[in-house]
Amino acid sequence: MPDHTDDTAGTDGTPTAGAAADAETLAFRDLLRGLRVWTGELPSFDPAQAPAEPLPLFRQWLREAAEAGVPEPHTMSLATADAAGDPSVRIVMLHDADERGWHFGTHRGSRKGRDLAARPRAALAFYWAAAGRQVRVRGTVTAAGPEESAADLHRRSTGALAAALVGRQSEVLGSVAELHRAADAAWERAGREPDAPAPSWTLYVLRADEVEFFQGDHRRRHLRLTYRRTDGGWERELLWP
Ligand SMILES: Cc1cc2nc3c(=O)[nH]c(=O)nc-3n(C[C@H](O)[C@H](O)[C@H](O)COP(=O)(O)O)c2cc1C
Repeated sequence: MPDHTDDTAGTDGTPTAGAAADAETLAFRDLLRGLRVWTGELPSFDPAQAPAEPLPLFRQWLREAAEAGVPEPHTMSLATADAAGDPSVRIVMLHDADERGWHFGTHRGSRKGRDLAARPRAALAFYWAAAGRQVRVRGTVTAAGPEESAADLHRRSTGALAAALVGRQSEVLGSVAELHRAADAAWERAGREPDAPAPSWTLYVLRADEVEFFQGDHRRRHLRLTYRRTDGGWERELLWP
């Protein structure tokens, strides 16, 4: 057990740097211990009534999250791994979820783009705190062709196009000023040329082979319903929380 009373003061009675660091560590732990999840009422979920396929349930939960005021319910964590198996996770936006899968856009040359080229498997996680709900998706990712990728980008906002035009995602940036110059030029071009091509911007579609729905419960009887793709459809199972 670390002893936090050890070096609280120097020989002259003034607090030492070690004491200050310890106080900060303790305050941080107190902060974490004081934080709570799911302070409000949680929605009900009856797995016995769940549909035979995960897509309608996913769409329903996303809609309910939006209606419940969950901020940015269409953002998700995307996990990939490189050729050596080293994982990375980051947030991206969901562009669509349909029979083909879960759609998102990014640069082919980014870290995640390179990961997916080496190993086209990925996992997604959505967390909708106000509903105590989490959805996990895992599957194989396919890159859409240039035309579909461009069409998806050009349906989005000027800001999305400007960001895509900046490009060079995940490369080392020399200075903030360099970023501002590139972004200003990209915004100007995106405003003037709404169909400007952003060749590295790619739409990806994750075809799920596993989708898990987690409904939190105040008494910790969390419900987990998992769908696994089979030859002809999906099989469903409950999992211990
Ligand atoms: C709310 C939010 C939404 C984001 N959406 C996207 C996105 O749709 N596509 C994207 O490439 N990056 C998006 N990003 C940035 C990524 O999280 C990440 O920083 C970037 O894609 C580089 O990741 P990588 O180096 O692992 O490839 C978003 C970030 C946040 C916080």
